[in-house]
Amino acid sequence: MNVHGTHYRTIWPDPHDPGIINIIDQRLLPHRFEIKPLHSVEDAHRAIREMMVRGAGLIGATAGYGMHLAAMTADDGQIREKLAEAASLLRSARPTAVNLAWAVRRVLAAAEELPTAAAIRQAAFAAASRIADEDAQFCQAIGQHGKQLLLERWEQKGRKTLNVLTHCNAGWLAFVDYGSATAPIYAARDEGIDLHVWVDETRPWNQGARLTCWELEQEKVPHTLITDNAGGHLMQQGLVDLVIVGSDRTTHTGDVANKIGTYLKALAARDNDIPFYVALPSSTFDWNLDNGSEIQIEQRSGEEITKISGLTEDGRMETIAITAASTRARNDGFDITPARLVTALITERGVVPPRAEAIHMLFADQCSS
Ligand code: MRU
Repeated sequence: MNVHGTHYRTIWPDPHDPGIINIIDQRLLPHRFEIKPLHSVEDAHRAIREMMVRGAGLIGATAGYGMHLAAMTADDGQIREKLAEAASLLRSARPTAVNLAWAVRRVLAAAEELPTAAAIRQAAFAAASRIADEDAQFCQAIGQHGKQLLLERWEQKGRKTLNVLTHCNAGWLAFVDYGSATAPIYAARDEGIDLHVWVDETRPWNQGARLTCWELEQEKVPHTLITDNAGGHLMQQGLVDLVIVGSDRTTHTGDVANKIGTYLKALAARDNDIPFYVALPSSTFDWNLDNGSEIQIEQRSGEEITKISGLTEDGRMETIAITAASTRARNDGFDITPARLVTALITERGVVPPRAEAIHMLFADQCSS
């Protein structure tokens, strides 16, 4: 995506020093665009854990580069041991997005059985770069497949403004480029479809308000921020034509883990006969889980609910309390939307019904691994 006239990915190796991986510190957006260098696997772990980077695809890409940094900084004689330690450190960063464990496994597999430390380092870097490149390519392909669905709906509507609702941020910032839920929106816009996006604020971290709105603004896509509770009402008023969200983990049977609140949007969409699409690259499928209820849901600090952060008028980031100090809060980061409420999954290989047989047929090479 272009920011201030320059094309950026959300993560990239320093062109002069492969021991430095650059990220954008997403905690500061939309107020400040700051690039932060990662030098070690500990830095990569902290970046994921503290949500400087977030979103399934980008968490995976950061984990891949984190493994590369572990290989770069390890002594030759200890490199295998250090990679194993790095793998468990990274896996502990956040539990729900399956891309994390998938990326770690992929770099470990690439480095396995190589004879020298130099070969291991080279393989780890190549694997991490491939993960990042594929993530960007897959999102671009999701855009092309998803665009057709938007086109059809726009035609059905007699080419009147197409209103798309999205939840959280499954955009450029959640991946390496393009985004999953946003890619079809950008592709449809490029095709000349007149569209407008309703953006759920996505309490409590406000990924929608802070990140998706900022991204859509960079891309000049018309959009309006709404409260998390407004979507059902807008659907009843006929103001939503389709919903597209991303996913942090989708079972091979089509149950979708995504940011908390997604399930309620899917219920409201079903009640109003509105198509509900989930856009995801294949790295987000969990081939081992049969049921969404088995997905571990991240429990986050209650302080994200009882306090709120923002920019003061004189340009300082400030956090203030919005509840009494004694108020207890429970903060589940994700929820599960059962496959029966999902109209279809938009993947890099095409649009597929959320059913095991169909998913397996499209990804026959992956579902047995
Ligand atoms: O907690 P986050 O910000 O890492 O959550 C991820 C998300 O933004 C969403 O759940 C998103 O819709 C799917 S990630 C591609």
